[in-house]
Amino acid sequence: MNTARGAVRPLYAQASGSPIRAMLALAGREDMISLAGGHPDPALLPIEWLRESLLEVTGKLQGRSLQYGATEGQPELREASAALLTQRGLTATAAELIITTGSQQAIDLLARVLIEPGEGIAVESFNYPAALQAFRFAGARLIEVPTDAQGMDVDRLEPILLTERPRVLYVVPNFANPTGAVMPLARRLRLLELAAQYDVTLIEDDPYGELWFGEAPPPPLVQLNQRADSPAQVTYMTSYSKVVAPALRLGVLLAPADIQRAVVLAKQAADVHSGSLEQLKLSAMLGSNCLTPHLDVLRKAYAAKSATLADALRRHADGLLKFDTPQGGMFVWARLRSDLPLLPTQDWVDFGLQHKVLVVPGAAFSISNAAQPWLRLSFANPSPASLQQGAERLGRGLQGLASRTSSNTKTTPERTSA
Ligand SMILES: Cc1ncc(COP(=O)(O)O)c(C=O)c1O
Repeated sequence: MNTARGAVRPLYAQASGSPIRAMLALAGREDMISLAGGHPDPALLPIEWLRESLLEVTGKLQGRSLQYGATEGQPELREASAALLTQRGLTATAAELIITTGSQQAIDLLARVLIEPGEGIAVESFNYPAALQAFRFAGARLIEVPTDAQGMDVDRLEPILLTERPRVLYVVPNFANPTGAVMPLARRLRLLELAAQYDVTLIEDDPYGELWFGEAPPPPLVQLNQRADSPAQVTYMTSYSKVVAPALRLGVLLAPADIQRAVVLAKQAADVHSGSLEQLKLSAMLGSNCLTPHLDVLRKAYAAKSATLADALRRHADGLLKFDTPQGGMFVWARLRSDLPLLPTQDWVDFGLQHKVLVVPGAAFSISNAAQPWLRLSFANPSPASLQQGAERLGRGLQGLASRTSSNTKTTPERTSA
């Protein structure tokens, strides 16, 4: 077909696809160990729980599960989600919630309704790439706010708000992807103060908050904001992907009324509503009160897997990688020793093919895509044996890089990925 006139808008035609998705295409190769994707452990997907709930859906709800439904979502799932958020300490009614097609859709719809093309959005130094992609496709200019081991560095935010004047800020305060950072309470409170003072709408993305290992993280921004004297504008989203199953593609958005109305209109244009059958399946699952015990199972299992990977990395990549043992979520965020070369993303793909272990380089999460001395290693999906073997392969590969660098007297120049 002739596409000489360039049917695709440059914004899309020139965008690079997700490096993580590209790596996942390699993950199925024989003998490959993938520490790349943020996929839940297949052994922890609740097949039995789903099977029992399916019978209930087909038996009781009959035709409705196969019919068009409200854009805001099926009433049962909105009710069950409001109950869940209330149980977690938020004030939320079913009427204030929208069920979205994964929290990814909530990010995308908020980007469309909140950001004027060319306008800035404040984001952390390292981010979930598909959120950045959604903001870029909405025409947003990404404004970097420095990030450290405690998440967004709120002390450095005010000058940015003064000079760049963003109206919207995206933040993942709990076990962030990729850094695993948890924002402490004091930073959360300061962020809310600044948001109120500078009239910035916060997009709080919280898919990992329930996956804590030792102690629960501080309350979500939206909850703290509900108690504040001068409240800021906060939209909050969470997801059933990491705590039930990603295949359901269901998330929840809590937003102030004007934003909720706009998101409903945008969702009508995007997909009319999220799948009724999936929503009713999930509400039947939640109705059986199995989520709380399931979360206990997930927390224990992921805590053990996180410790397995951390221990194996200390054994096999000692001195080559520096990291904190995760306190929740799905990721180890490891800093490469300073004498190791800064490689572009494609070189890490080649490294993966050579050493049969896939990792995601920091460049994939950075705004500029420039090479970074960081790797994101996911412990969620592989078996404990694969985590150990993956760490061993990674250690051996990094050792190879280190010895090549030291035998090469010239240091490798910094390069950026395409
Ligand atoms: C920070 C963050 N937000 C949102 C999502 C999207 O999740 P989903 O659309 O499956 O709910 C992910 C997925 O990995 C994520 O890491």
